[in-house]
Amino acid sequence: MKAILCYYSGSGNTKLACEYMAKNIKNIQIDLFNIVKTAPPDLEKYEVVGFATFANFLAPPYLMRSFLENLPRQDDKPAFVFNTYGLLSGKTLKILDKWATAKGFKVIAGHSLHTPENYPPMIVSGKGNEQAPNEKEMADFENFISELDQLFSRIKEGSRVERKRVRISLLNTLLPAFPPAKARKDMGEKYVDKKLCTECGICEGVCPYGAIKLNPKPIFDLNKCYGCWACYNHCPSRAIYTKKYKGAGHYPQPIEQLKKKLEI
Ligand SMILES: Cc1cc2nc3c(=O)[nH]c(=O)nc-3n(C[C@H](O)[C@H](O)[C@H](O)COP(=O)(O)O)c2cc1C
Ligand code: SF4
Ligand code: SF4
Repeated sequence: MKAILCYYSGSGNTKLACEYMAKNIKNIQIDLFNIVKTAPPDLEKYEVVGFATFANFLAPPYLMRSFLENLPRQDDKPAFVFNTYGLLSGKTLKILDKWATAKGFKVIAGHSLHTPENYPPMIVSGKGNEQAPNEKEMADFENFISELDQLFSRIKEGSRVERKRVRISLLNTLLPAFPPAKARKDMGEKYVDKKLCTECGICEGVCPYGAIKLNPKPIFDLNKCYGCWACYNHCPSRAIYTKKYKGAGHYPQPIEQLKKKLEI
């Protein structure tokens, strides 16, 4: 019996958490599947499917929505949902649950993990939450993993596992889920410091939405951009900037503190 965990991770926090889950789950083999710029996986080969991503303006990013929309309709296949977040997850987990359920998956578990921020405006304002997750949040994550493992054991035995509605805090319930256009609008126009840009093409490669073309420096298509900051975060020369942010708050990969907590 095998599971597939389909993830979208801008800077690696979610990917790291997914690797940690896969490593610590004993009752099933979990294959990790990066949804960025790939064709949908063959779900027929898997008994369970997971969906994991990060909170993006209090909701899951648009890429996960389009990924789910392109999957074939399911007939109650067990699924679980997971997200990381830097400060407040909002309705991210609930919406992931809703999208997966609408596709015909039976969602049996869900969890949100507090992690450091990869959103440059938060890092610049000193709210990088580098200490996250704290001990309690880490213990809650471990509990989630062991509950999930027990559910997998029951599925393996052939027992029926019921649908479980995911729970989020009251505060998160009260927060609005912003439309995808807000992230793009808040980020605004992107510029390239031509003296710093080495024309390496990394920004074009990491843009999940195909909004960058190199010619020979990057050209941005604002209509395709979803304001994810991946180009800004990953440019090795820090050549990409916006009206408000230049040369600061970059988060290209998980910080050491998080790597230590999620060591595999
Ligand atoms: C564009 C953008 C929007 C974000 N919005 C939120 C948010 O609404 N709430 C939150 O808690 N964290 C938010 N974050 C922070 C990320 O969810 C968090 O740092 C996450 O762990 C990043 O995961 P990744 O490294 O897998 O991309 C946002 C990050 C980005 C880049
Ligand atoms: S990643 Fe940075 S240096 Fe490389 S092409 Fe893009 S802007 Fe230029
Ligand atoms: S252009 Fe940059 S901010 Fe916009 S979607 Fe692509 S990587 Fe994200």
